[in-house]
Amino acid sequence: MPRLLTVVLNWQPPVQSDETVPVLAQATLTREGFGATPRRRRATLPGMPSLPRIRLLTTGGTIAGAQAGGDTRGYRAAAFSVDALIAAVPQLATLAQLEVEPVVAIGSQDMDDATWLRLAAHTRAALDEPAIAGVVITHGTDTMEETAFFLNLVIRSEKPVLLVGAMRPADAISADGPMNLYNAVAVAVHPGARGRGVLVVANDEIHFAREIAKTNTTQVGTFRSGHRGLAGLVNAGRLHLYAPPVRRHTSASEFRLDGAAALPRVEIIYAHAGMGRELIDAAVRAGAQGLVIAGVGDGNFGAGARAAAAAAAKAGVAVVRSSRTGGGVVERNIEIDDDAAGFVAADELNPQKARVLLILGLTRTRDPRALQEMFFSY
Ligand code: SIN
Repeated sequence: MPRLLTVVLNWQPPVQSDETVPVLAQATLTREGFGATPRRRRATLPGMPSLPRIRLLTTGGTIAGAQAGGDTRGYRAAAFSVDALIAAVPQLATLAQLEVEPVVAIGSQDMDDATWLRLAAHTRAALDEPAIAGVVITHGTDTMEETAFFLNLVIRSEKPVLLVGAMRPADAISADGPMNLYNAVAVAVHPGARGRGVLVVANDEIHFAREIAKTNTTQVGTFRSGHRGLAGLVNAGRLHLYAPPVRRHTSASEFRLDGAAALPRVEIIYAHAGMGRELIDAAVRAGAQGLVIAGVGDGNFGAGARAAAAAAAKAGVAVVRSSRTGGGVVERNIEIDDDAAGFVAADELNPQKARVLLILGLTRTRDPRALQEMFFSY
């Protein structure tokens, strides 16, 4: 019997909101192996017609990954089909009618601009359907924060958009994917999740796309939202939502990408003791329209690199100063004269998030003052 059908036949009445959801049963996973291109087109898991309809877009990652050689420490991304993931969480059928749409099946280290544009188009198309209550996207955790922030800036909808992944492969001891997926769908169907921008669910926490950062290579508690804190908690499907985000996002965003075939090229260059100008010059020669310097401390970098960056800015390349420290605000004109050099300060954004905003900013302007306003607004 097909797995999706099995899930439907196993349907149980929805739990009441004040009941404790039972511990999730883990079904046996069957590895189908997507390869680089997902095999199946959209499939509907018809839960009760009264339940909200959620579009589940899949992109791969460890949540669909398999252990390599029976060892939890190694894995192959995107080895399991989404059917198998859903079958591992039969309680999903008590929350929503899930419509599964594979977009791509990759490890998120291979996420790129073209895939972002494609994913944004799939997300927008789903949200434009009045009957769709929200979108959940499965994604590798490595670049999840970048994809989440990108979508946060280009999706114009109040409907919930959730990204979800896992740190442990789907067949590992104590895999975290099933509960993360269950919680993500629980957030997506909750009316309180509307209008909060793109959210990420992991390890019982709900993060804003702007704030979340991956901070640990292996632990399930890898995600942190250091500056402004969590969007909320989700405990076996029950939500505790905190204050909404204050910066511009989704419906209030100015960025429009409809029909875009490519995005401006922006490189990140990591500062260090003894940094010279060579990598900055090389990036400009390679055609970068923008540079984010992952600076030391307060977004600082040595004299040779400063001279190269100033020359790049003078030539029309946007230069944003972020920090490699993982926390704090990069302010204007503290140790570096941004006004004189034509640089932009990244404010609270880490280098990878600053890159996302700069890419989108460059679709609208090359003026450093206008770009700086964007870094203070988003
Ligand atoms: C990936 O980002 O695709 C691999 C790592 C993960 O999903 O945790």
